Amino acid sequence: MYEDRARNDRRAAPDNQGTIPFWQMTGTRPATLHRMDTITLTRPDDWHLHLRDGEVLQHVVPWSAERFARAIIMPNLVPPVTTTEAAAAYRERILAARPAGSGFQPLMTLYLTDNTAPTEIERAVASGIIHAVKLYPAGATTNSDSGVTDIERCHDTLEAMAEQGLNLCIHGEVTHADTDIFDREKRFLNEILGPLLERHPRLRVVLEHLTTAEAVDFVRNGPERLGATITPQHLLMNRNHLLAGGIRPHYYCLPILKRERDREALLEAATSGHPRYFLGTDSAPHARGDKESACGCAGIFTAPLAIELYAEAFAEAGALARLEGFASHHGADFYGLPRNTDTITLVRKPREIPALMPYGGQEIVPLRAGDSVDWTLA
Ligand code: NCD
Ligand code: ZN
Repeated sequence: MYEDRARNDRRAAPDNQGTIPFWQMTGTRPATLHRMDTITLTRPDDWHLHLRDGEVLQHVVPWSAERFARAIIMPNLVPPVTTTEAAAAYRERILAARPAGSGFQPLMTLYLTDNTAPTEIERAVASGIIHAVKLYPAGATTNSDSGVTDIERCHDTLEAMAEQGLNLCIHGEVTHADTDIFDREKRFLNEILGPLLERHPRLRVVLEHLTTAEAVDFVRNGPERLGATITPQHLLMNRNHLLAGGIRPHYYCLPILKRERDREALLEAATSGHPRYFLGTDSAPHARGDKESACGCAGIFTAPLAIELYAEAFAEAGALARLEGFASHHGADFYGLPRNTDTITLVRKPREIPALMPYGGQEIVPLRAGDSVDWTLA
């Protein structure tokens, strides 16, 4: 019964009747759309990914390597990746977990703390392997305890980043206990992000995993040096999926799923063709027992079906022709990296997702476990 409900309402889609596919509006069908049910696109990149560490790498890395050419690797390990040296060692462990022959490239990040020195930024840039620094407000999410307690402490380091052109990726939520969890992103925009962008007029910022209509507008109205990632779960689900008719721990992530109006605004932004919105899955694996718990961890494991989920969302919006820009062009352009040259092909053919997958010595429940996704990687 529980499973049936989850199945039936996971696509509580908005009313899309009357939406005209982009290629029909323009009158010419782009070369990328062979038929309505096959799409070939430049190989995408994932601009926000958690791979964890140790023996689980072998179970997590291959899913992303199969789909994406590159990924921005989040540094919220225990202990966090705060130095270039630690990032270089972590990168080697990720490379070693790739399937044979894979060219998947982990783009490393540093975890910003109150004490990250400007000299560490110089080392990071000189290394050539660090592509961003991640700001977690302390206490905002999984393994953020060493994060920033007061942004005032980071200005010299942020200025060094601005000078060197190193991107700042932000988990954009305030953390005060008295702020409602559904309002934490909205309040971050005007209270922290606005002043931060003004104080550092050359700093390049990626606002990670947008979840609200307000964040969509903030980015659209923001400067050219402000980009944003959007996850598949926030394009496909709202808070009813998480909470109505039973609490579903595998739909719990941070920032938390919001209202249907927010989901609609995110889908509109992602499918708009606007170059500063791009793909970042925020695939965040946690062992089953850590999710199905009285105090379950935040994070949704989407890596095994990530690009397929985005294809579902774009198909729902009648915007498959815009998937390539969002998934494969905008992020690379924003990070100043070359676009990939090979391609992937997705076929509109349902694929069953196993109820459980191996995760080190434990097991993990991916999104759509025991259910299916509409698209299959050819
Ligand atoms: C992430 C994790 O588990 O590391 N969890 C999540 O819900 N997204 C951390 C994060 O990105 O907030
Ligand atoms: Zn994340």
